[in-house]
Amino acid sequence: MDTTTRPVVIIRDDTASAASSAAKIVMDRIRARSDLVLGLATGRTQVPLYDHLVAAYRAGEVSFAHAVTFNLDEYAGLRRDDPSSFAAYMHQHLFDEVDIDPARVNLPDGAAADLDLEANRYEKAIETAGGVDLQLLGIGANGHIGFNEPGADPVSRTRPVSLSGSTRQANRDFFPDGRVPERAITMGIGTILDAAEIVLLATGPAKAAAVRQALQGPIGPDCPASFLRRHPRVSFVCDREAAAEISYH
Ligand code: GLP
Repeated sequence: MDTTTRPVVIIRDDTASAASSAAKIVMDRIRARSDLVLGLATGRTQVPLYDHLVAAYRAGEVSFAHAVTFNLDEYAGLRRDDPSSFAAYMHQHLFDEVDIDPARVNLPDGAAADLDLEANRYEKAIETAGGVDLQLLGIGANGHIGFNEPGADPVSRTRPVSLSGSTRQANRDFFPDGRVPERAITMGIGTILDAAEIVLLATGPAKAAAVRQALQGPIGPDCPASFLRRHPRVSFVCDREAAAEISYH
């Protein structure tokens, strides 16, 4: 039977305030526990969140020196130094700008010869670190989380996956030749739900339908983000545009 714990929904006037609210949750948790295990997301939505974290670090308000990070996903076939990789994104937007210890940073290796083995290694690394304390998420317009596309199993673990046409289209801008990989390696929905706390950041009108589906549609594989309602401690941080289709009654 599905449990329907209502997530906390935080709605801010604009994208900048939504990103800063989500960043504040990260900073509060890291101040409470300097060796926080932080799950990280990529995508356009997270850029202003990371900008806030970098600004706070520069202002001496937060340190990442003892934190451990695990990214959600990576494209298959891309080396870490490929400018289109999520590894490159993370270096650009966060890792190279704060005092994080490179030895404590973890991303799946999309260039691994055996992606299944790499996925198992990644799951074990998360387990060895004691599990994720706080997982950041974005949401795809089709309701995906990480790269768990519609149809994904709620108990799925880190594994290689195929990307949908719409997801590849949405991420075309990150590939100068327009050739988005067809596969990726992603934490599973089960992996994500094992985090102690989850914060999903959604901004802009393109996410409004997915946010409504996630919060008010049926819990099921048609909208992978809907499975988050099975988690006891999840917050959706939205701007007004992303929250526009939530109905109140
Ligand atoms: C990407 C990532 C997700 C991200 C989502 C939304 O493909 N794999 O982790 O949340 O799609 O991206 P954006 O924030 O650019 O809309």
